[in-house]
Amino acid sequence: MVNKVGLIGWPVEHSISPNMHNAAFWALGMTDWSYELVPIPPDIVGKSLRTLRDEGGFVGVNVTVPLKQSVMPYVKPDERARAIGAVNTIDFRDGSGTNTDVMGFLDDLKANGINPAGMNVLVLGAGGAARAAIYGLARSSAKVTVVNRTIDRAREMVTELVATAGIQNVTVEMLDDAAEQPIDLIVNCTSVGMWPNVEESPWISGVPFPRGITLYEMVYRPESTMLMHQAISRGGHVIGGLGMLVRQGAAAFELWTGKAAPLDVMFEAARQALVAKSK
Ligand SMILES: NC(=O)c1ccc[n+]([C@@H]2O[C@H](COP(=O)([O-])OP(=O)(O)OC[C@H]3O[C@@H](n4cnc5c(N)ncnc54)[C@H](OP(=O)(O)O)[C@@H]3O)[C@@H](O)[C@H]2O)c1
Repeated sequence: MVNKVGLIGWPVEHSISPNMHNAAFWALGMTDWSYELVPIPPDIVGKSLRTLRDEGGFVGVNVTVPLKQSVMPYVKPDERARAIGAVNTIDFRDGSGTNTDVMGFLDDLKANGINPAGMNVLVLGAGGAARAAIYGLARSSAKVTVVNRTIDRAREMVTELVATAGIQNVTVEMLDDAAEQPIDLIVNCTSVGMWPNVEESPWISGVPFPRGITLYEMVYRPESTMLMHQAISRGGHVIGGLGMLVRQGAAAFELWTGKAAPLDVMFEAARQALVAKSK
C-alpha cells in the first residue's frame, strides 16, 4: 500500500513541494511513500478532507492558499496554528493541524547563525507569512515593529496575535518612522518582488534604507530580489527564503514519517525545480 501525502489548495500547480518530498522519499528508499498535488475548490474543503482521509489513502496533507484558514474547523489545530490562525500541515491519523512555517522560519534563522532574542526586528507585511514570523520572533524575545501597505490590517493582526498568543513587544508603525529607529534585522513577508514582478521592492522610495542590517527575504522566486540588492548596496547581509521553504517542508516530512528529513536532498530538489519552473 502506498502512503500518500500531498498539497491541497486552489490552485496548486505552481508548487515545488512534490519535487522536495518525492526526492526525500527516494533518497531514503521510502518507495511506498508518494507526495501528490490535490487541487480543491474552497467550497468543498470539508468533504474533500474526509474523502482524502477515508478513501484516498492519505496520511496527511500540506495546505496552501486559500485553504489555510478554511480547514481549521475540520482539524484539531495545535496552539501555534490557533495563535497564527492558519494550518499548513494536517496529520489525518490523529486529526491534528499545525503550522510549520514558524519552525521553517526560526530553524532557518538559526541555521544562518541568527538568534533573534533581543534584536530590533522590522517585519514588512501583515499576511499569513507575517503572522507566522511575528509569532516566532515575539516568542523568541525579539522586539518587533510591523509596517504594512494597509496599516489597519497590520493593527488588526497584532491585536489578534496579542489576544490569541499573548505576544508582547510588537508595535505597528509607518515605514518612515520605523526606519529612523535602530534595526538589526528586516524580514520581508510581503509578496512584493516575487516572480514575475522582479523589478519591484516593498521599500518605499524616498525612505533611506538602513545601513549594515541583515535582511531575511521570504520571497524565494527569484533567488535574489530587488530588496536584497538594496540591502547589499547599503552594506547589509541577506538571506533568501528557500531555506524556510525547505525547512517547513522538512518539519512536515518528519511529522508524517517519523524520520529525519534529508535536508540536502530537499534543498537540491527545490533549487532544481525552481530553475526548471523559471524557464
Ligand atoms: N519562504 C517561505 O517558506 C515562505 C512561506 C510563506 C510565504 N512566503 C512568501 O511570503 C510572501 C507573502 O505570503 P503570504 O502568504 O503572507 O501572502 P498574503 O497573505 O497575501 O500577504 C501579502 C502581503 O504582501 C503585501 N503586499 C502585496 N502587494 C503589495 C504591494 N504592491 N505593495 C506593498 N505591499 C504589498 C500585503 O499588503 P496589504 O495587507 O496591504 O495587502 C500583505 O502584507 C509570498 O511571496 C510568499 O511566497 C514564503
